[in-house]
Amino acid sequence: MLVSAAEMLKKAKAGHYAVGQFNINNLEWTKAVLLTAQENNSPVILGVSEGAGKYMAGYKTVVGMVNGMLEELNITVPVALHLDHGSYDACYKCIEAGFSSIMFDGSHYPIEENIEKTKELVKVCADKGISLEAEVGSIGGEEDGVIGMGECADPKECKAIADLGIDFLAAGIGNIHGKYPENWAGLSFETLDAIQQLTGEMPLVLHGGTGIPTDMIKKAIDLGVSKINVNTECQLSFAAATRKYVEEGKDQQGKGYDPRKLLAPGFEAIKETVKEKMEIFGSVGKA
Ligand code: 13P
Repeated sequence: MLVSAAEMLKKAKAGHYAVGQFNINNLEWTKAVLLTAQENNSPVILGVSEGAGKYMAGYKTVVGMVNGMLEELNITVPVALHLDHGSYDACYKCIEAGFSSIMFDGSHYPIEENIEKTKELVKVCADKGISLEAEVGSIGGEEDGVIGMGECADPKECKAIADLGIDFLAAGIGNIHGKYPENWAGLSFETLDAIQQLTGEMPLVLHGGTGIPTDMIKKAIDLGVSKINVNTECQLSFAAATRKYVEEGKDQQGKGYDPRKLLAPGFEAIKETVKEKMEIFGSVGKA
């Protein structure tokens, strides 16, 4: 059964490790992430962006697929199904469809409006036992066509949103979705430290987990990050493994064109990436 992410992240914050949110795109992705979590006895969060939800034929399809897999694959580790960067409307759709966790990304609204909308969703989610992530300070890079510049959040605004009763908070600290550019300045630990000083126990979320060096990840966890989002890195390893299979001509040997064979190397590559991340984040054995 799907669970809210509130409890797993409270435990992660207290235990000084982070739980990975791995974004899913299709059946292979979902199965790879769930099996890896089970094999490593790790809690896990499946992230679904609005674009990916649409691609997978809608939120209800996603809920049906994930619930089916939890049962059929005997997944017993804690799993949350989480809307990633949800608009106000998408939040309501996912709550109705059966997601166990949502992110309302109000970072592009003026802070007063972000507060108002977040406050309303706090109540709706609390009534249903769904966990809620809010965001202050937009994350850089491109996400579903929206380009953020990677700002650093204002710690006072973070405190104002954290106090509304949300379960975890994403704050921009110079992080970017997708690959980091050569001239990236790195994470602003000064900002992260200031945010944690004001928000205390609140689990903090680090978006743009792809390509952040391991030492920075560990320092971010030391400073209160308890959830790390990874998307692009699984896409890159899936694409590389699939490319290799085709370039070696394997799709043209025997029944190598069978999707169950064609997509197998990519599936294994996602599993490998997810396992590596769980080891770095420290969530292995924490289910
Ligand atoms: P990456 O694609 O950079 O790993 O970021 C994922 C993310 O933050 C999803 O919200």
